[in-house]
Amino acid sequence: MGVFTNILRIAISAFFISTFATACSNGQCKLLDECSSDGDCEAGLYCFSCAMEFSGSRCVRSTATDQFKLLNNSLPYNKYAYLTTHNAFAIDGEPSHAGVPRITFNNQEDTITQQLNNGVRALMLDTYDFEDDIWLCHSAEGKCHHITAFEPALDTLKEIEAFLAANPSEIVTLILEDYVKTPNGLTNVFTAAGLMKYWFPVSKMPRNGNDWPLVSDMVANNQRLVVFTSRKSKQQSEGIAYQWDYMVENQCKKSFLSAFSFYYLPCLKREGVDFNVQQLYHSVESRFLSNFHINILIFLDGQGGMKEGECPNRGESSPLNDKTKSLVLVNYFGTIPIKQVTCEQNSGDLINMLKTCYAAAGNRWANFAAVDFYKRSGGGGTFQVVDTLNGELLCGCDDVHACVAIWVIRSLQAFIMGMIYSIHQD
Ligand SMILES: *[C@@H]1O[C@H](CO)[C@@H](O)[C@H](O)[C@H]1NC(C)=O
Repeated sequence: MGVFTNILRIAISAFFISTFATACSNGQCKLLDECSSDGDCEAGLYCFSCAMEFSGSRCVRSTATDQFKLLNNSLPYNKYAYLTTHNAFAIDGEPSHAGVPRITFNNQEDTITQQLNNGVRALMLDTYDFEDDIWLCHSAEGKCHHITAFEPALDTLKEIEAFLAANPSEIVTLILEDYVKTPNGLTNVFTAAGLMKYWFPVSKMPRNGNDWPLVSDMVANNQRLVVFTSRKSKQQSEGIAYQWDYMVENQCKKSFLSAFSFYYLPCLKREGVDFNVQQLYHSVESRFLSNFHINILIFLDGQGGMKEGECPNRGESSPLNDKTKSLVLVNYFGTIPIKQVTCEQNSGDLINMLKTCYAAAGNRWANFAAVDFYKRSGGGGTFQVVDTLNGELLCGCDDVHACVAIWVIRSLQAFIMGMIYSIHQD
């Protein structure tokens, strides 16, 4: 065999390897096609591997549908669903701003600006008094520590201000787990960030289960920032809405097996477990990378904080079926934020929980679906889930895109009926 044939064979096999390894590239790959980089995938998708759902890397969704642009914004604020990030500020790779390395867990990977640009419309933020300022922090017992501090709230609020300024038809909702005791502490930081001009006033929020103002009116009035606090007193003192006067919320459950209770930290955190547990989490996550993780996952599935078929209310919230509250918030991040598991949770599990909570809420679909690592999924993930919620809320279909077709058919019907009517008149 000559050199030439060898080169030919190498060339031929290289050709086949390259054609079969990725059947698509250059922005041509569709949902769940194999990919090797984000650039291979169509707009709105990115290249991701979710070992629990598929092998290798595939294109999955990275952006939400804008329901206001797809349909219209002429319905009340409570008739739409909004993708919500739990602990939106607890971002992987966020540099330390408190002077010492952080020892705590992360719940997201994108910056606040990226989250908003990808269609997240509600952010859960934990606010604390810290360093004579207001900070976003993961902590316990209402006290922020240097090792659990993420960043001054001002930085995050400025990102939100920039988004609202650049997107004059969008509404952003903030749900604050609020430990700030400084009088007017929040008002001062919202003012400094330039956000007061977007403030949606408490006086316009319904407290008897009525509909909220229309999104189109909120946009026209430029009242596009809706803020809720977990501190009741601030409704009086600072005009910041007390969350559970307007919203029902489900609770994640913790395991009854204390040996494994550290898996349920986000639940426990709220009940004041100290940060040693959070350190433990780091060793847990690295163990998840090893082979025996499957056993633990099976355990989690059976005993999880997000127990299938149950949707109890969070302690501070009235029962989910209390219809004097017009908004429904469903949390789905009951286990500790373990990246490798989230992509499965954000896929089928999440929609099942939303169906359970729909029934628990007296046949009401969630307005807010709150998740960790919102972009991790086995395909449509949280974005498809919010499409489903908006479809159900807006036209009783399981995808908001179907509402467009229904709307076109109804308009056509109305047009034809109008024609027939005018022919009769003639
Ligand atoms: C806006 O969309 C909703 C949901 O499809 C529909 O019911 C409503 O009639 C639409 N309103 C206008 C003004 O087009």
